[in-house]
Amino acid sequence: MCDGVSLEAIADAVGTPAYVYSARAMREQYDALDRALSPVPHRLHYSAKANANLTLLRVLQERGAGVDIVSGGELYKALLAGFSADSIVFSGVGKSEQELRDALHADILLFNVESLFELEQLNDVAGSMGKRAPIALRVNPEVKVNTPHHYTRTGERGNKFGIPYDEALDAARRALAMPNVELRGLDMHVGSQIFQIEPYRDGLERVLELYEQMRALGATDIRYLDIGGGFAVPYEDESPIDLDALAAALLPMIKKSGLSLITEPGRYIVGNAGVLLARVMHRKKAGSKEYIITDAGMNDLVRPSHYDAYHAIESVQPRSGRSIVDVVGPVCESGDFFALDREVDDVDTGDLIVVRTSGAYGYVMSFNYNSRPRVAEVLVDGDRFAVITRRESYEDLVRLEPEHLEWRTD
Ligand code: LLP
Repeated sequence: MCDGVSLEAIADAVGTPAYVYSARAMREQYDALDRALSPVPHRLHYSAKANANLTLLRVLQERGAGVDIVSGGELYKALLAGFSADSIVFSGVGKSEQELRDALHADILLFNVESLFELEQLNDVAGSMGKRAPIALRVNPEVKVNTPHHYTRTGERGNKFGIPYDEALDAARRALAMPNVELRGLDMHVGSQIFQIEPYRDGLERVLELYEQMRALGATDIRYLDIGGGFAVPYEDESPIDLDALAAALLPMIKKSGLSLITEPGRYIVGNAGVLLARVMHRKKAGSKEYIITDAGMNDLVRPSHYDAYHAIESVQPRSGRSIVDVVGPVCESGDFFALDREVDDVDTGDLIVVRTSGAYGYVMSFNYNSRPRVAEVLVDGDRFAVITRRESYEDLVRLEPEHLEWRTD
């Protein structure tokens, strides 16, 4: 079951594979984080990159969330979902001039500026529009970060994200001298799927040191302190990040600073609110190996293949036996797997399985390799369910490919 709805009923109605999300679980996660941070003025800006489905964005918007975006596409979706412009922060290491223009036009809350180049570009673009851009400087705090995969660490020295720590003061000096930007905040984001408190605590200490130095330079309009996202959820039997411990470590520092806290949680809100529902096509033995081949593949959920990520796999119907198998998809790649040499429920042809903790970085990272249409997304709210993204059709696969070519010469 997903809350009050049977997964079999969803599979019958919508087909497989399909992502299935629980609105209840999203609201509970949102509320838990909101509660933990309640001793200080704070805002939760859901990181849309984790799952940018319009209906899910609306669920969070209705709960009171703001949103963290990283592209013009996410700006478009956030506005369409009903987020007010002043509840949008714009992160990202490379923003195009058009994206800056669109966000300035909308009047978003903050641009999280990640380089001196971006600072100057934003100043120029804002000037050309007769606007002043509200900015936070995203600083790389250059602390030790531990995450399950090195692709998801961003706050260590030499990472591509943010302004290198020892250039941040100079960036503030320049920003203060620019006519078309307003320095309103400081920002960091140290990585994703972080269990430890230390990277946040150490990073915050270093960013607050900069804050003091920036104030001494005359930066009196800084109001926001954005500590990014990254809060870990359990994929196996780990405990999630300890929110009470996190709050105990950070909130006294934030209180003392007098700044208003911004967080950008993505995975924490949606990770465990979603599963990928798939059907077993068949089992196959090859040498000493046994494979379970499902109708979902790496193009539907790339995390196991791309990050070597663990996702729990369970049969929808109880099964008494277990066997050690590779759970794989139909895609023509040996890297197309969900689990390797894993003991799983003894499922066979026609059985439904769920790949758990797939609400974050699942559908949004899916693609059409092997000309596989992208799957449907379904939201469960209590005892009701609705399709929130239709399954792509074969026609969708060729929608952008013109039949008659318009040849041109330069
Ligand atoms: N803020 C910024 C600036 C970010 O870059 C990210 C994630 C977040 C917030 C949200 O992080 P979260 O709370 O979801 O951990 N595709 C990878 C994760 C990439 C995260 C990228 N940035 C995965 O599947 O593990």
